[in-house]
Amino acid sequence: MIDTHCHILPGIDDGAHNDEIAVAMAQAAVAAGTERLVCTPHHFNGIYDNPSVPVRQGLSALQQRLHDAEITLPLHLGAELHLVPELPSRVLDGSALTYNDRGRAALIELPKVAIPLGTETVLEQLLRQGVTPVIAHPERNLVLARDEQRLGEWVSWGCKAQLTAQSCSGEFGERLQWLCRRWIELGWIHVIASDAHRPVGRSPDTLRAGRAAVARWRGEAAAHLLTHDNPRCLLTGDDLSALPPLANPISLPRPHSWLKLLPWRRKH
Ligand SMILES: [Fe+2]
Repeated sequence: MIDTHCHILPGIDDGAHNDEIAVAMAQAAVAAGTERLVCTPHHFNGIYDNPSVPVRQGLSALQQRLHDAEITLPLHLGAELHLVPELPSRVLDGSALTYNDRGRAALIELPKVAIPLGTETVLEQLLRQGVTPVIAHPERNLVLARDEQRLGEWVSWGCKAQLTAQSCSGEFGERLQWLCRRWIELGWIHVIASDAHRPVGRSPDTLRAGRAAVARWRGEAAAHLLTHDNPRCLLTGDDLSALPPLANPISLPRPHSWLKLLPWRRKH
């Protein structure tokens, strides 16, 4: 497996707090069967700026530390780029990192509860610049979860989508798992990744259970595509492949039943 979304670089965002935690995350990744890992610290999200220079330095230092600890896990440059109007220019001037620093595809993060005005303009600008936006965990955005056609439209333009492994495996609840399965059956999902922040819990080894869920739903070849072949294309700069859509994808629970999941509707 190749993990293309991981907050392993120590001390620069809400992921690994220090070197020891980063090394423990790397050990968890290797034990789970991850062969390569893209370091994707938050970029320009209002809390963490993380321009490319300190990310490069952090990656070199961690790679050396893993080498010293005899852990074989090649690390690659990347970032989780918060969607802001100036993002296309930041990608062009190199301050915002793309996957493996190739300038071909970039991991894009939306806010959890909204889609900002101008989102489509930014996505179109990136596509015009030859940079493929990969939408990070769309299942965790409340607007896309209720209005999935918007995601389908972005994918039809050439955007790609990456699910969080724990959403697929059901660790974030049944509703998100259904959504993941439906979108994978619709052929809208190109990659799954751990989005790990810790050595346990939100850990790199969650990718294994996420992969197993995809294999149950669509078979082993599909799981390989989403956890290995397409992630490898993100590293090499090649085009990603889409899963063929199923004729009858699973349907979601009715919206009124989803309301029961909201905290103010719970009886206890
Ligand atoms: Fe993330």
